[in-house]
Amino acid sequence: EEVVPFFGLHQAGILTPTPAAGLMVAFDTTATNKADLVRLFKTLTERIQFLMAGGTPKPRDPKFPPSDSGIMGPNIAPNNLTITLAVGNSLFDNRFGLGNLKPKRLETMPNFPNDELDPDLCHGDILLQFCANTEESNLHALRDIVKNLPDLITLRWQIAGFLPPNTHKKQGKSTVRNLLGFKDGTANLDAGNDKLMNRIVWVQPNNGEPAWTVGGSYQVVRVIRNLVERWDRTPLQEQETIIGRNKDSGAPLGMKHEKDIPNYAQDPQGKQIPLNAHIRLANPRTSESSLILRRGFNYSRGFDKAGHLDMGLLFVCFQADLEKGFVTVQNRLQGEPLEEYIRPIGGGFFFALPGVKAEGGYLGQSLL
Ligand code: HEM
Repeated sequence: EEVVPFFGLHQAGILTPTPAAGLMVAFDTTATNKADLVRLFKTLTERIQFLMAGGTPKPRDPKFPPSDSGIMGPNIAPNNLTITLAVGNSLFDNRFGLGNLKPKRLETMPNFPNDELDPDLCHGDILLQFCANTEESNLHALRDIVKNLPDLITLRWQIAGFLPPNTHKKQGKSTVRNLLGFKDGTANLDAGNDKLMNRIVWVQPNNGEPAWTVGGSYQVVRVIRNLVERWDRTPLQEQETIIGRNKDSGAPLGMKHEKDIPNYAQDPQGKQIPLNAHIRLANPRTSESSLILRRGFNYSRGFDKAGHLDMGLLFVCFQADLEKGFVTVQNRLQGEPLEEYIRPIGGGFFFALPGVKAEGGYLGQSLL
């Protein structure tokens, strides 16, 4: 049946194993007051709940447009669909009087030094993350939501991502490759480790954040183009020292197995794994303080006007503290040799709302 449960302390789509198709869609809201915002969040909740569960849409009266697009046929298969709602910095401007409830670390995603951000691919009042076994499921869900909220949301930007099929079932057992040809996710955190997730991913009570944020998580989306023509002309040895891992096996350089854990203390000069290798800068393994939960996809958008392939990593990560997590890691990566082959072009900083615990509640209820 492949249903991911909607109700819970936390939203689905964060610890949920990553399926084959991802779709990030950012919207702005045309709501002008809090009552409209409540209606928006209630309607979103109702649609998300229905879409994730699947089933048969309302009966059709042939004299009216059908209530459902029909993309999934008359019975909507759940297909591991998750839809995760996050809010952006702009939602806390002066429109709704929510300024003093803003998550402490939430800000508009800045331009990091290697970024070439396209304004048409950045930020937004809200972000919906759709994940499912097929692209059709995601598009069906998006169509449903757009159709049900014509007066309250406008599309801002979107990007679709993909992974090899069946990753959902195999989560944690086999790692998939990104478009640079390296295994990606090897050293990612174990989403099945509740204690670790509580420390690293979920906002906890009494940590200085507004009370309503407990159970939510900061979500970072980065559209990172890979300059693949350049990469494909780079010697294998250089590719491996840039990442810090063997390309075939995924093992850290100088080690045998993918899951082997590098001991940087025994390699202070970076003879095995260079000090500026991506994995070493991203996680120097000196403390737990800057861990993040990554949950990205690959993407491809054809080619640009200069005739260069436009593909890369739809990087997504979650953390309870944006500053200690993504921002710290990204700052450490600044100037890494990998930068020559990647170009962040879009994305945003968002806060994924706490989950809905039971029937009758709605996403964003603790905020509104
Ligand atoms: C690890 C690729 C961007 C954070 C890795 C690995 C690869 C990789 C191949 C090793 C396998 C693994 O443990 O998953 C890339 C590529 C990127 C990119 C191609 C850009 C297109 C980023 C960004 C961040 C990041 C933007 C965060 C700011 C990490 C972390 C690890 C990692 C935390 C795990 C390091 C460890 O614990 O050993 N990345 N990455 N990566 N990456 Fe990236």
